[in-house]
Amino acid sequence: MEKDAAWKRIADLRNIIEYHNKRYYQQDNPEISDAEYDRLMRELQDLENRYPDEYSETSPTQRVGAAPLAKFAPFNHPSAMFSLANAFSNEEIIDFDGRTKRLSGVDNISYVAEPKLDGLAVNLIYENGIFTRGATRGDGATGEDVTQNLKTISSLPLKMKKIKEKPIPSFIEIRGEVYIEKESFKKLNLRRINEGEEPFANPRNAAAGSLRQLDSKITARRPLNIFLYGIGDIKGIDFSTHKEALQTLSGWGFPVNKLIEQVQNINACIQYFEHIGAMRERLPYEIDGIVLKVDNLSLQKILGNVSRNPRWALACKFPAAQATTVVKEIFVGVGRMGTLTPVAIMEPVNVGGVMVSRATMHNEDEVLKKDVRVGDTVVIQRAGDVIPEVVKVILDERPIGTKIFEMPKHCPDCNSEIVRMEGEVAHRCINISCPAQLKEHIRHFASRGAMDIEGLGEKVSAQLFDAKLIQDPADLYYLTKKELLELERHAEKSAQNLIDSLENSKNPPLDKFIYALGIRHVGERTAKLLAARFGNMEKIITAKQEDLTAINEIGPEIAASIVEFFHEQKNIDVMNKFRKAGVKPQKKEIAADNALQRKSFVLTGTLESMARNDAKLIIENLGGSVHSSVTKKTTYVVAGSEPGSKLDKANSLGITVLNEKDFLKIIGR
Ligand code: IVH
Repeated sequence: MEKDAAWKRIADLRNIIEYHNKRYYQQDNPEISDAEYDRLMRELQDLENRYPDEYSETSPTQRVGAAPLAKFAPFNHPSAMFSLANAFSNEEIIDFDGRTKRLSGVDNISYVAEPKLDGLAVNLIYENGIFTRGATRGDGATGEDVTQNLKTISSLPLKMKKIKEKPIPSFIEIRGEVYIEKESFKKLNLRRINEGEEPFANPRNAAAGSLRQLDSKITARRPLNIFLYGIGDIKGIDFSTHKEALQTLSGWGFPVNKLIEQVQNINACIQYFEHIGAMRERLPYEIDGIVLKVDNLSLQKILGNVSRNPRWALACKFPAAQATTVVKEIFVGVGRMGTLTPVAIMEPVNVGGVMVSRATMHNEDEVLKKDVRVGDTVVIQRAGDVIPEVVKVILDERPIGTKIFEMPKHCPDCNSEIVRMEGEVAHRCINISCPAQLKEHIRHFASRGAMDIEGLGEKVSAQLFDAKLIQDPADLYYLTKKELLELERHAEKSAQNLIDSLENSKNPPLDKFIYALGIRHVGERTAKLLAARFGNMEKIITAKQEDLTAINEIGPEIAASIVEFFHEQKNIDVMNKFRKAGVKPQKKEIAADNALQRKSFVLTGTLESMARNDAKLIIENLGGSVHSSVTKKTTYVVAGSEPGSKLDKANSLGITVLNEKDFLKIIGR
């Protein structure tokens, strides 16, 4: 490509990708598929690699993560990051207002009231409108430099938008909170469980763990979000109120929470506290209270700080929903990857309006750290929507004769040996034929995000397995109606329905099938990347480590896990059984009508409306093929601007030549 054309394409791609980032992350309304998005990113990355002069620190490619770090560099905050004094009752809120008035000598103070987000605080530096560095809070004076990781947060502008109200300052520190939405958190944990990894305890830990990843490519795959709520040092301009600062931040393109309000007096603050408290459960993110800030910035200065807390702000905390109950049993479950998970089974109890009887404790270390024993009275807590957790044991109420929890030495299901791998917190059953694992594996295969086979939930999967009708997911396709009818709870209709759902599931989208196989570390996103890159199962099965790591988001660990999976004899047998049963995954975007079936194309010149790679994919998705040289067998030559010698060859062979407009018509655009 000509340098100018390349430059133009780079600029276009950057805009297009930022547009789609907004649609996806801010408006929750994507316009294109993940595969198309990945293609745009790859095209941009390729062009930037080829034209390094066009490097830009605000390009969307800067968001995908950089080489892993050995450790984070310390980061000295230009101005200290304070924390907040807490209030737990209306009286304490009123006291705060009284103190503020007394100390400032002003008796009508207006505040800005904000939700108190339960994430982790960060400090961002923008120089002349460009995001240059960012860090965690740390001890308030020094944090960790997590610039690369922050860049992966799509809702964070890498460049400030110009507005007419305020010039872009030459230097500004912007403070905010990185968080993960409740829904994304649930999905992330499901993904982790499916990939055989430890789930996070709550969205806050998930956000912190993700932001403090040394490998920013991992951070890039985490659904991090950010809200900005304050300013530290600033050069060249200033604000008179906090409200004005927030409005300006929003104008510059920073996400600012929509629930923030200016409130005229302390009674209105209390009303706000109650109002936000009432809607807390319905919010898409977790909050643990509200923050009140004196609106007038000169007043803030007069009030100053006391030790590490400003006197002009207050955190009003919601009481956590807690309850006490008794642990009846500590049950140990076996997951699909053989991970053992202790779960406290308790006397059912109402925690903030929800009946709770189980609390997952993730691993042995967690049970031992809290020293939870059968018979103990425990305090349990439910924060927002999140899974209930055991906060602590009430030792005074411990009965005599309780025993310290011990992880079983043998699998509770198959009695095989349990091992704890070096460097892992998890204990695993390493028997690959462990029935509990196999049942989980079959359940996963049939589940909604995977093959979505109706009528094949946890119970039926286990039933089929226990009746020895199936050993692995491929066996499902050999079930007969007669066999089903012999099982309990299966009548003519349900048996026929299951047979039909299985039959109908024989041409799954390729990415769903890959995900359904349950390869360690391969979640929905990786499955999509594999499907888009390789197009069919055979190519994925035979892919080498380096073919896999060539994909942007696939690192050596995921690649090794995929290669290993397809080398295992047991899995090779299962894949053969799928093939014999007629299970044939389809490349996702094959259009219903194979309009270009058996038509062969040669592309020459530059197309205005799309990159050549995109044109190629579209043709292939419609069943056609694309070749590099013109022969008698070529059906069409598509000629963009400045076509090469291929056009002459087409003319001499009498092959139909399509201009861009004709081409768009044939592909239905
Ligand atoms: S203002 C000096 N505003 O709460 C002002 N903090 O306990 C410092 N937080 O470290 C922070 N939402 O992580 C502020 N709207 C909000 C907040 C907020 C959450 C967190 C932040 C801070 C902690 C202080």
